[in-house]
Amino acid sequence: MEMPGTIILGVNVDHVATLRQARGGTEPDPLMGATLAILGGADGITVHLREDRRHINDRDLRLMRELVSGVELNLEMAAVKEMVEMALAVKPEMSTLVPEKRRELTTEGGVDVKGEFKKLSEAVRKLNGSGIAVSLFIDPDEKSVEWAAKTGAQMVELHTGYYANADKGHRQKELARVQRAISMAANAGLFVNAGHGLNYSNVRPVAGLPGLRGLYIGHSIVARAVLAGMKEAVSAMKALIAEASQPVK
Ligand code: PXP
Repeated sequence: MEMPGTIILGVNVDHVATLRQARGGTEPDPLMGATLAILGGADGITVHLREDRRHINDRDLRLMRELVSGVELNLEMAAVKEMVEMALAVKPEMSTLVPEKRRELTTEGGVDVKGEFKKLSEAVRKLNGSGIAVSLFIDPDEKSVEWAAKTGAQMVELHTGYYANADKGHRQKELARVQRAISMAANAGLFVNAGHGLNYSNVRPVAGLPGLRGLYIGHSIVARAVLAGMKEAVSAMKALIAEASQPVK
């Protein structure tokens, strides 16, 4: 692996699929979301295949693998047998190992690297053996970084949710915590990414931290995309209706 010249942006398109699942139909299609994200300059596409398949499903993942080339496909997943086997079959460029609880709304904290060391190291070994780079999603603290380096993973993704959710008085402290973790992880020979909870108001201070390889962002981009496209979507519908409608007598 090499450090990119500028910080990369991986776009998580899970919530395009969340919107599709709201009606159980076929649109909006996360594959189209990925295509447009790549056209917009995304350096990578992330999908999280969850045990309950609440947004991305197996078919999405297979087709995503066919579609996404030239930028990295990042499969976010729990380090469980089913998902490791799926990754080995699909072969994304990278896989981010996250904790997963069935009832959580989103990934809530980093992986417990010390507590799950054996399971994580085994997953890293299998994935690396198949040419898939591995990133561990961890809390920005010393112990997590130390243990992550021992698993053999190439990268970590530092959880920025604590920074994103901090009130004004604690934000600077949380940012400094991320910066310290970046330095520690880089010193341990890891490539360092960050993500979770980043949006158009809070991304700049994080993007300005030295030593980061990439940022992984999902919800805020999909939310902006829905609103940014609203005017155009309504005018297109109005035009269709106007064209088809009968003159009022
Ligand atoms: N990184 C990881 C490991 C995640 O689990 C998520 C959420 O799926 C993200 C980044 C993106 O977070 P958000 O949707 O808040 O931008």
